[in-house]
Amino acid sequence: MGSSGAMKAEILKGPFDPGGQPDSRTGQPLELSMFAWNVRSGLTASKAVLSDPDRLQDYWVWSRSSHLIKEAERIGLDSQVQYGMWTGYGGPSQWNNAGYDFASAAAASAAITDRLGLFSTCHVGYKFHPMHVAKIGASIDSISGGRWGLNIVAGQNPRDFAQFGIKEPPPSAVRYAICDEFVTLMKYLWTSDRPVDFEGEYYQAYGAFVKPQPVRKPRPVLMNAGQSGAGFDFACRQADWVFVAPMAGTPESYGELAKEAHQRAAAHGRSVRVAAMCYAVIEETDSAADAKVKWLQDEVDDEAVREFIRSASGTSNALDTDDDDPYMGVGREMFMKIGLGMTGYQLFGGYDTVAEKLKALHDVGVEHAVICFLDPLDGLEKMEHHILPRLRGLGLRK
Ligand SMILES: Cc1cc2nc3c(=O)[nH]c(=O)nc-3n(C[C@H](O)[C@H](O)[C@H](O)COP(=O)(O)O)c2cc1C
Repeated sequence: MGSSGAMKAEILKGPFDPGGQPDSRTGQPLELSMFAWNVRSGLTASKAVLSDPDRLQDYWVWSRSSHLIKEAERIGLDSQVQYGMWTGYGGPSQWNNAGYDFASAAAASAAITDRLGLFSTCHVGYKFHPMHVAKIGASIDSISGGRWGLNIVAGQNPRDFAQFGIKEPPPSAVRYAICDEFVTLMKYLWTSDRPVDFEGEYYQAYGAFVKPQPVRKPRPVLMNAGQSGAGFDFACRQADWVFVAPMAGTPESYGELAKEAHQRAAAHGRSVRVAAMCYAVIEETDSAADAKVKWLQDEVDDEAVREFIRSASGTSNALDTDDDDPYMGVGREMFMKIGLGMTGYQLFGGYDTVAEKLKALHDVGVEHAVICFLDPLDGLEKMEHHILPRLRGLGLRK
């Protein structure tokens, strides 16, 4: 079927950038975002969060997170990036078991800020239709005056998939083929001045249009964090920001993946920028930070970390596991890296150390540090008074 007056979509997958790619630059050499403020205890799987639930665990509740969002803007961070989670990992800390959805969290943030970038994280593989997300996104972009962007997740957690009625998560290649078609149709909807007929393998739309169209031209900025072959290639073909997340965790390993992202995007006739997920425990001195990290590790939420490891079994993050081992066969170091930052780049230390660690990332080509703080209220205060001044001194912030 087709609809009269509609344009037939000839392109069903990426690379697809009608009107080109949006300019995502904020003008800062190293862009900085507050990450995972919208879910219970963010990237921290430690019973230590139970010592001060309002500060360390349930900061996502709007009476507190609305203050965090305004603080992030006031101190000059570039954006907030949400973490997308439907199920959570349980355990005594109830890791990620509560939080706000991608649309409400961004729309509410839009209404209380003037400048901050607003990234939603949406699992497109959970039976949404591109019309839903294109319309929701264009609306938040309109409300915020062009500040909305989308972190696209294919969907990866089997218990999440099950909640949406999908008993077996599709294999990586299929998950990203679905993503690719989803994003292609969204890009049509955001940029076309005529209704669109789209007949893909996974999505169909007839006479489809979205008004208002996004304020940002030609469309909102897209992020992706796929790490499998299919995921990484999708990111380079369709997104503007590509998260790199090397298991080794050294600046060099970030640099290698950053280079690969640029090469892959160039092969698709595009350009991407490279971002890294970070987890911050910032104290006045290295030894004070070490003591805090030790406390988090001593109290690590084994049950939640084990559930995280189990739930990654279908993805490129899958590890060889052994249920009988206290660290589930992945080794203490990896177990703790999951519990303290979900394998993100560790910003642990005193002020100088943390600033140097951020510089080391920037030196190898990372342009955006997306940071989850153990204690976001305290973390933002330390960023304002201690880290941002040092980053300005290093030429990483204006
Ligand atoms: C920086 C970063 C942020 C991510 N954010 C989310 C998220 O918010 N929700 C989610 O379900 N998965 C998230 N993921 C998981 C990825 O989307 C992806 O599924 C994972 O890296 C495995 O790659 P693969 O899907 O190509 O196998 C994130 C991963 C990284 C590295």
